Amino acid sequence: MTEGILTTAYIAASILFILALGGLSHPETARRGNLYGIIGMAIALVATIGGAQVTSYVTLAGCMAVGAVIGIFVASRVQMTQMPELVAILHSFVGLAAVLVGFASYLDPEIHFEGVEKTIHEIEIYLGVLIGAVTFTGSVIAFGKLSARISSKPLALPARHWLNLGLGLVCLGLGFVFVGAEDTGSGLIPLLIMTLIAFVFGVHMVMAIGGADMPVVISMLNSYSGWAAAATGFMLSNDLLIVTGALVGSSGAILSYIMCRAMNRKFLAVIAGGFGTAGGTATAGSHQGEVVAISAEETAALLKDARNVIIVPGYGMAVAQAQHVINEITHKLHDHGVEVRFAIHPVAGRMPGHMNVLLAEAKIPYDIVMEMDEINDDFPDTDTVLVIGANDIVNPSAQTDPDSPIAGMPVLEVWKAKTVVVMKRSMATGYAGVQNPLFFEANTRMLFGDARASVDAILAGI
Ligand code: TAP
Repeated sequence: MTEGILTTAYIAASILFILALGGLSHPETARRGNLYGIIGMAIALVATIGGAQVTSYVTLAGCMAVGAVIGIFVASRVQMTQMPELVAILHSFVGLAAVLVGFASYLDPEIHFEGVEKTIHEIEIYLGVLIGAVTFTGSVIAFGKLSARISSKPLALPARHWLNLGLGLVCLGLGFVFVGAEDTGSGLIPLLIMTLIAFVFGVHMVMAIGGADMPVVISMLNSYSGWAAAATGFMLSNDLLIVTGALVGSSGAILSYIMCRAMNRKFLAVIAGGFGTAGGTATAGSHQGEVVAISAEETAALLKDARNVIIVPGYGMAVAQAQHVINEITHKLHDHGVEVRFAIHPVAGRMPGHMNVLLAEAKIPYDIVMEMDEINDDFPDTDTVLVIGANDIVNPSAQTDPDSPIAGMPVLEVWKAKTVVVMKRSMATGYAGVQNPLFFEANTRMLFGDARASVDAILAGI
């Protein structure tokens, strides 16, 4: 493949990736956005395989075959509820790839620069390995937390901020030693030590973050994986990888900002860790009065008699896969003249846009799916709210208890409606490990059971 064709292919792929990101910003255009991304990636792959840098097609085919088999195996087995964990572990691969490419690029005897170019190349390697190593271990810990293999409680080491600062300063110092090293042999030691420190830093950074703040961590690691890919692009002198990495890095950074705003957190404060400690006044299991249970038949009657209904989906709806039946309930209520809308909290579920994806999959019309800011003022004028497997995002203690781990996080003010029906299986807490005073409110009714069985029974009763 000539240089000209390669450049044209890379530009075409870059444009398609930008169109993909634009498409993914709205549910109606998301499918088209995905298609642009797939075509862009196909062009990028073919152009890279046909490029002059490939020296052994046998090795390349072997590596691609291993990657493809693992990818197909994992993707065909993963449940929708496990998607966030899958994304986290995939981010870790990008980080590890940046580390490996960094070392390979440093040790490659054929890559030889002099003077300023040598310094620039070594800075690229150092930064690429640093970001890659933090992304790798940080994403592995995020995977552990999201899959409940590791407790979602934040690890609050004494003097953790000093520890972070110390690690950062040591990495900076090692960077000077690395760039100033005479030969590869003496530069390898500071690079190796920094890699180990960055691995520890990645673990510590994500371990220190509490359950409720995981959305910020996910989007932040997404951003880091982009910067790690961009750094890899610099090391390999691959323009497309630089552009793609920068696109992922900057869109991840914007997502982190949106997540911080949604949770009313300061980005630096989240990264410093410690939020989300299950040590507030309303901790798991503490009783706050009596709860009133309701049956599915009574819920069906409430819904039928209402003028208007707001449905609040949460992580439990994803677990129960209740969205398709909810679509049927929506249609039936609509036929009865009841206005039905959905209220989506920005961090509902376990990944950004989780609920939007599920509702779109169930073919619920986009125009009745409202963001939190669009609908939060409407709860006082609402007859019935149906909370399906949501907990933290409808927890009033975020507003009333300054000691709560979720204090300050904006929540859907469902308790202001005439009646609230909460569907869940038990009195267990949500992801942040905080008890929810909503369950004990006078206008709240608890519909206990698996959300799928409950919505089936409600549908039958309407
Ligand atoms: P959660 O607070 O996690 O609450 C989900 C509730 O669903 C649980 O209380 C659970 O209670 C119930 N549930 C689970 N399976 C169910 C089933 N089969 N049937 C009925 N109920 C079921 O969810 P949320 O309100 O959506 O809040 C999201 C939380 O996750 C926030 O703390 C957020 O910060 C965090 N988080 C979000 C993200 C993103 S990016 N969205 C990423 C990581 C973490 P029972 O066990 O009693 O049934």
